Amino acid sequence: MKELFTTKNVGSTFDQKAQNWNNKKLFHTSIVGVTNRLIKILPDILKPGMQVLDIGSGSGKIVRNIKKICSKTEVFASEISFNMLSDNSAENLFLCDIQNMCFKDNMFDLVTSQQVIHHLPKPSIGLKEIHRVLKPNGLFLMLTVGNQYQSNIFPYKQCHITKDPLGRITSQQLQKLHLECNLKPIMLFEDFFDMHFNNSNDYFMFMSAIGAIDKIFKYKLYHLIDQEKRQKLSDKIACKTNNLRCINGHYITLLTQKIT
Ligand SMILES: C[S@@+](CC[C@H](N)C(=O)[O-])C[C@H]1O[C@@H](n2cnc3c(N)ncnc32)[C@H](O)[C@@H]1O
Repeated sequence: MKELFTTKNVGSTFDQKAQNWNNKKLFHTSIVGVTNRLIKILPDILKPGMQVLDIGSGSGKIVRNIKKICSKTEVFASEISFNMLSDNSAENLFLCDIQNMCFKDNMFDLVTSQQVIHHLPKPSIGLKEIHRVLKPNGLFLMLTVGNQYQSNIFPYKQCHITKDPLGRITSQQLQKLHLECNLKPIMLFEDFFDMHFNNSNDYFMFMSAIGAIDKIFKYKLYHLIDQEKRQKLSDKIACKTNNLRCINGHYITLLTQKIT
């Protein structure tokens, strides 16, 4: 099956997002509910001496939290976008694609991934790589967008993660995907939240800052897409989000263990 987008374009897209990555929170006024479940689970999992890999690590939010919770871990970060890594404080930084990582087999006790898997053209290839680099019984902790994320604006159709415009997935589909890659689900959380904006324009700016608009355009480098198409999209969103003040959110956090 032909892929809808390429990893190379995902990398170039995030190279452009990097400079303003930490400004994205300026566009919303408040969030009510839980959005950081992955970080909340970390204290129950981290132990001194662990070798941890954070994939799609970006500016290092997860890395900083791992070190704060358990400083005696050795943390590696992998990323496809060079620019996204500029603030990342991991001891070991690697510029590599999750789908073909430069690490030896059975190397890590824990792999973490926050908001990354929905950016993969074929998530199962990434999951197989994670399985390969994990030690026997190693853990994989991930967070991704659930099927109810922004369903008030973009209705979710029961389809595969790579076909949904925002890369959303149900908890059943997510667990099945992991099991097929020999990662056995052991804990799952579904968190719902509301995100508030002053107006539709701020919402649009937020969506652009997180790479969601680019994802809708299948990472065909949004700034290169002709003005007419961009205008059509913003009109469509603006009409659905007239007087927009609030969007619904839905994140799934899943902990799995390598089984064979
Ligand atoms: C939404 S950001 C999340 C960043 C970080 N995990 C966080 O929580 O702040 C997604 C990140 O995944 C990276 N990414 C996407 N596809 C990747 C791939 N195939 N290999 C490595 N990194 C990838 C992007 O470059 C981007 O930095």
